[in-house]
Amino acid sequence: MKKDLILILDFGSQYSHIIARRIRDFGVYALLCCYDISISHILSKKPKGIILSGGPSSVYDNNSPLISKNIFQLNIPILGICYGMQLISFLFGGKIEKSKYKEYGKSFLIINHLNNINKNLLFYGIPKKSIVWMSHFDEIKNISKEFQIIGHTSSCPIAAFKHKNKDIYAVQFHPEVKNTEFGISIFKNFVFHICKCNTNWKLDNFVQNAIDNIKKRVSKKKVILGFSGGVDSFVTAYIIHKAIGNSLNCIFVDTGFLLEKEKEKVSFLCKKMNFSIRIIDAKNHFLSKLDGIIDPEIKRKIIGKEFISIFQKESEKIKDVEFLAQGTIYSDVIESSIFSKKNRLRESIKSHHNVGGLPKKLMKLKLIEPLKELFKDEVREIGKKLGLPKEILYRHPFPGPGLSIRIIGEVNEKKIFILKKAESILLQELKNDNVYNNVSQAFIILLPVKSVGIMGDKRTYEHVAVLRVTNTEDFMTATFSHLSYDFLEKISNRIINEVDGINRIVYDITSKPPSTIEWE
Ligand code: XMP
Repeated sequence: MKKDLILILDFGSQYSHIIARRIRDFGVYALLCCYDISISHILSKKPKGIILSGGPSSVYDNNSPLISKNIFQLNIPILGICYGMQLISFLFGGKIEKSKYKEYGKSFLIINHLNNINKNLLFYGIPKKSIVWMSHFDEIKNISKEFQIIGHTSSCPIAAFKHKNKDIYAVQFHPEVKNTEFGISIFKNFVFHICKCNTNWKLDNFVQNAIDNIKKRVSKKKVILGFSGGVDSFVTAYIIHKAIGNSLNCIFVDTGFLLEKEKEKVSFLCKKMNFSIRIIDAKNHFLSKLDGIIDPEIKRKIIGKEFISIFQKESEKIKDVEFLAQGTIYSDVIESSIFSKKNRLRESIKSHHNVGGLPKKLMKLKLIEPLKELFKDEVREIGKKLGLPKEILYRHPFPGPGLSIRIIGEVNEKKIFILKKAESILLQELKNDNVYNNVSQAFIILLPVKSVGIMGDKRTYEHVAVLRVTNTEDFMTATFSHLSYDFLEKISNRIINEVDGINRIVYDITSKPPSTIEWE
């Protein structure tokens, strides 16, 4: 059955993907694309509505991301958000200026009185005054006569407008952010009342379709998969295995930077699932490559390169391989497309080693990425429907370069040993106290800093370690978790008492931004 689609043109806002997430929650399919998609490409996707996202640019900058005015002739409803709003206004000849103050955070939207409420379907059922979330430094000073102002705040006289004759709406605030009190209702009004979408996006149909497609595509050939043991690669392996059985070959590279007993756990679970898996022990290889390396980006690049080279060598040992499977999910797709050199709207902060590009030989293989349209929580939902164990589905994410980027500065065997022990205690305690599922990611960082301590009347001079525990919806922004002092004390005591080499624990209380989740 044909799915109704809302297309989101992404101008680089950190919230763009949340728009898609909110709309999919209504049972309507939403896709994010780069703003420079051509009009013919838009038409080929037959969207029932288009949303122009926010973004960090100013419309009057030299290289600001623009779209063709022809988009307004397509007779497809449009909603502009923040930068998207300013862009609509700009393309219709309105005036936009830097405002005196950057407006960030809570504001009160007052809906302007219109004689006929049907003329403002966007705010249908929303109280006259409600909280909205603002984040902008440019301001619309005046708009074309074709528009009508439909909302304002005390500091922003044009906080929302609509076209007088067409279904073109725009808001300065962010309805996708939870702090906007009636954000969901605004999207529902746009999707159902203005775009007239039906709810026909269902995860249930997804798995069987994916299995059928893979069966047809792969036929008698073989597929290789870089298996990490995380939820994405597990669900990917499960779906492909259902389709083609042991023509799927999983390859697991033990970099030596994994959590304690990780290799054994992966091997056990794969046996249970009947996956055919090759486990490659490359511990010494990776360790020697990182000898003397301190710079985090160089570390990441070396690990990414070595990983691919080992993976390639192993895959060449398997006959008749024609496909490469990856556990790519939608956020990886969004990150790598928006990060593309041509449209570098968002800053690149770290090189994630699993999205770093493939060598030519592997690129010859055809790609299978069954999860590439799904968000993390949708992948978990599917995993749940498939009956995968909870310990896999709700695992905290673990970065490709593993413990090597949690050992600040130079990595060596002794430090890995210390960190593994400390992380293992942390995970045990999180699970014992039922805290694990209430936080999004928890780990320890080993610093290259030593401090003086005292144990059993003896002076110690050992490493300082950092406890990092965060809560996040999407790992793009995060807050530190407000753990109880008793719990923090228990972790600290156990690590100091049981791990030789650490004599002080500190708790990281920064959010992302301005920090990142990992330290390197
Ligand atoms: P940051 O540190 O950028 O991390 O705030 C965001 C999330 O990404 C994970 N992370 C990685 N995941 N390969 C991965 O698969 C990587 O190279 C990588 N680096 C960071 C990090 O653990 C957090 O969940």
